[in-house]
Amino acid sequence: MRLIIATNRAPYNIKKPKDDILLEKSPGGLVAALDPVMKKNQGIWVCGGEKLLEDYGLTLPYPVKQVKLTPKETKYYYEGFCNTQIWPLFHYFTSRYKMDIKDWGFYKQVNQKFANQIMEIIEPEDRIWVHDYQLMMVPKLLREKGATQKIGFFLHIPFPNLEIYRIFPKRYEILESLLNCDLIAFHTESYKRHFLECVDHFMGHDVERVDNKIIYKGRTISVEALPISIDYKEIEKIAASEPTELKLAELKKMYAGQLVGLGVDRLDYTKGVNEKLEGLEYFLDNNPEYIKRLSYIQIAVPTRSNVHDYMKIKRQTDEMVGRINGKFSKDGWSPIQYLYSNLKFEDLVGYYRLADFIIVSALRDGLNLVAKEYVAARIHNGGQLILSEFTGAAEEMPYRALINPFDVTSISEAIAKVLKTDETIRYKSMSETRAYVKENDIYKWLDKFLEHLG
Ligand code: F6P
Repeated sequence: MRLIIATNRAPYNIKKPKDDILLEKSPGGLVAALDPVMKKNQGIWVCGGEKLLEDYGLTLPYPVKQVKLTPKETKYYYEGFCNTQIWPLFHYFTSRYKMDIKDWGFYKQVNQKFANQIMEIIEPEDRIWVHDYQLMMVPKLLREKGATQKIGFFLHIPFPNLEIYRIFPKRYEILESLLNCDLIAFHTESYKRHFLECVDHFMGHDVERVDNKIIYKGRTISVEALPISIDYKEIEKIAASEPTELKLAELKKMYAGQLVGLGVDRLDYTKGVNEKLEGLEYFLDNNPEYIKRLSYIQIAVPTRSNVHDYMKIKRQTDEMVGRINGKFSKDGWSPIQYLYSNLKFEDLVGYYRLADFIIVSALRDGLNLVAKEYVAARIHNGGQLILSEFTGAAEEMPYRALINPFDVTSISEAIAKVLKTDETIRYKSMSETRAYVKENDIYKWLDKFLEHLG
């Protein structure tokens, strides 16, 4: 059986430093999760892009078919409908939601291009797996073109509750399209429950419900909660590799004698980076004994830099880092090291191994794979996870210090608590968390999804 997966984002970006052409792994949880899946399975990855890998003579470890997007499509479909309409709404940022009437037409147009591309390569025994909010019209468009194969859909972001979803002007069209799948899956039981409530509310006349199954136009659709994961063994391997050891040695020298906190986020307003920095400021204000003793490293990965709200958050974060460092810097020491960059994975894992704790402070997040990557990288145990209660991971993962990132005192208290936790407890809880993530890795997620898809 071949797996045809469809995602908006290509797994690798083309980078052109000077005369070289390089491939750089795309940031974000979706690619981190699906890259190992495709390396291990027979299939084709259908993805979008203005620049096509084949035009640069670049190949990937698995077959890729790219849907070429025009700059206008990128503007209205990706920047507009996906990232100024669906993204803020589904993450409960209703005040950032902006409707441009032109966006919807381009969203449908691009989804149609994806459906056409899939129909060109599809074979009778294949399974089609559509991913995420950028491609939610694809299932319906595939059926309209005659696809009879099994279609699965996985949403990588939260599915909001009924009162939020109600705001979405295309609430009927999207639900109706998704009901052309055989399996619809979300990260958590909450998102699944929200989805079923919305189906009951908006499509109630046309559907029948039997527990988690929806019967629509004579077809039965399963709805499941399947939290995504990481390639645990691969990250463990990278953590012990020579490049990572070298990076770790360099970092240990730089941060000798310091306690180290870490944040790794795409610089997205949903990630709560500025809230986290304010929490750190509050912590240092109230625990001055940690001045010159605690270094916090914020790795901010550039993202969606043509969208207005993302330009704004970048400016605000730059300013906040400057202000907090200005306030506490002493004798050549500054509390925050700020890296605005998409690091090589081996180097990133070096930071994971160095950090005494990591803070995931998302104001809303589908799951958050950084939390799981950190855990997998802690090959010598130790290390603590401070996790926002608004992430899917908080609903799933054991042994984490939960925070409400909207509350500076909550962040500050969690930092104080993890810094004071006894070493035996730290090691025990990290080794138990590691055992959980190891057991529930990306391959188990894949197996479960395919098993439910049938
Ligand atoms: O899950 C949300 C998502 O769209 C994923 O594809 C990925 O984790 C991240 O956001 C990256 O976003 P983009 O593809 O817009 O850079």
